[in-house]
Amino acid sequence: MFDTMTMTKIIGGFCGALLVFMLGGWAGELLYTSGGGHGDDHAQAYVIDTGVEEDAGAEEETVDFAEVLASADVDKGARVFSKCKACHKLDGTDATGPHLDGVVGRAVAAVDGFGYSGALAANFDTWTPENLSAFLEDPRGTASGTKMTFSGLRKVEDRANLIAYLDSLGG
Ligand code: HEC
Repeated sequence: MFDTMTMTKIIGGFCGALLVFMLGGWAGELLYTSGGGHGDDHAQAYVIDTGVEEDAGAEEETVDFAEVLASADVDKGARVFSKCKACHKLDGTDATGPHLDGVVGRAVAAVDGFGYSGALAANFDTWTPENLSAFLEDPRGTASGTKMTFSGLRKVEDRANLIAYLDSLGG
């Protein structure tokens, strides 16, 4: 049987070891998480693969244009149109570019009397929302040789809002 003194030593030793262990763990955590912070962008060291999370991530990457268009904001689209106003009018008259009233669903390069380059008709047939989105994202990339000197709308939300606005005008 242990006497009290031995018991005390054992317990003391155990507590000491525990303390060292805890301190070590804490110091280690401090070392490995320093710089990373605990903000939103804190990178996870590893992810437990549940399958579910992976699916959610994949969906986020491929933004579905139709989905964005379904929840498009016409008022915001009107503001995006300010980028087009220098060249396009919405009253049936042409300017540097052809008028755009009724353009959604209109045949490509179909405004009588406007001198098109031919580059649009060579690449698109009808201005469906999808075709408009592709063209407006990168005009000179999708219709090489076009006279439309506009760099493009990179944000899918901008394109969807703008197309919803143009569509709302009828024509
Ligand atoms: C610097 C002047 C300019 C700006 C800015 C501009 N466009 Fe154009 N756009 C043109 C010209 C010129 C054409 C005719 C292109 C051709 O024939 O190759 C055109 C053609 C188009 C067409 C094809 C119309 C048809 O009848 O087939 C669409 C659609 C269009 N523009 C939409 C837009 C939108 C939307 C914006 C704003 C995000 C915009 N454009 C900005 C000059 C411009």
